[in-house]
Amino acid sequence: MSIAPDTFAFVADLVTRRSAIRLEPGKEYLVESRLGPLARERGLGLDEFVRRLRSGAADHELATVVEAMTTNETSWFRDVAPFAALRGHVLPLLRDSGQSVRIWSAACSTGQEPYSILMALADAPRTVEIVATDLNEQVLGRAREGVYSQLEVNRGLPAAMLVRHFERVGAHWRVRADLRSRVDFRRHNLMDGTPPGPFDLVFLRNVLIYFDLPTKRAVLDRVARVLRPGGFLVLGAAETTLGVHDGFERVEAGGAVLHRPLPGAARAAAPGLLPTPARTFPVPVAPPPARRTDPVPSTPQMRGLP
Ligand SMILES: C[S@@+](CC[C@H](N)C(=O)[O-])C[C@H]1O[C@@H](n2cnc3c(N)ncnc32)[C@H](O)[C@@H]1O
Repeated sequence: MSIAPDTFAFVADLVTRRSAIRLEPGKEYLVESRLGPLARERGLGLDEFVRRLRSGAADHELATVVEAMTTNETSWFRDVAPFAALRGHVLPLLRDSGQSVRIWSAACSTGQEPYSILMALADAPRTVEIVATDLNEQVLGRAREGVYSQLEVNRGLPAAMLVRHFERVGAHWRVRADLRSRVDFRRHNLMDGTPPGPFDLVFLRNVLIYFDLPTKRAVLDRVARVLRPGGFLVLGAAETTLGVHDGFERVEAGGAVLHRPLPGAARAAAPGLLPTPARTFPVPVAPPPARRTDPVPSTPQMRGLP
């Protein structure tokens, strides 16, 4: 089956307008494989399904199409280093204002990222608050449920973490309630401002790759605004601020590469690019978990990179 050019053009335009995800020509196969099942559920062929969307569809139908076109690939402790460094190296670099360490896991998919952060910081000497967001309501529903198949659990979750933080539910594993209750999962589109800050750490991993350059810059600009002074951005292993936004410096901590906003970073976006103003949306504040009294972890090591 191959889709009509105007079917592809409509879907690509819809997805870019609503999510900033680019669908270049050549990605027709992706539209077929992601939207084919939606069309079949409605007893339609793909071109007919899209024709009906074009002639006037409810907003939720369009949102379903956009969600179906997102790529939600994720795993536990993805790339290891950012999580391994969190407690012993990154946490001690953050200014201790006496408040909780606030973390935003942006584009969190099915939740492996925020839960990995919490597991890595489980015995940390500071209280951690985490807001985890994604555009896709379906993956957020899964994240809130915290139920994972054996196959999903096998993707990067150490056995000790499984034993400590999960319980068996039939053939599946569920994140224990204490951990689940500590993540505030919210729908949020990275095109639309940020959750209320400030944050000490922003995990923005493996999502900028789907956006064009101006969108990457605008998103990084908003992240720079919402980070506390001395806070850090954590990108995906294949992502960088170099050539995208010159308001960040690279810092290595315990093998993890972090990005720290330079003073005035939010204004450092390339000339000619007007970053969209930072907007916030209301997020109810979850009660902070009990303050821990564990001993302070090992000495931080930091090396500035050129
Ligand atoms: C590949 S996953 C990355 C998950 C996780 N951060 C990781 O690194 O494993 C990309 C996620 O970005 C989300 N996404 C795509 N466009 C978005 C947007 N405009 N706003 C918010 N989330 C978006 C998708 O729904 C998807 O869950």
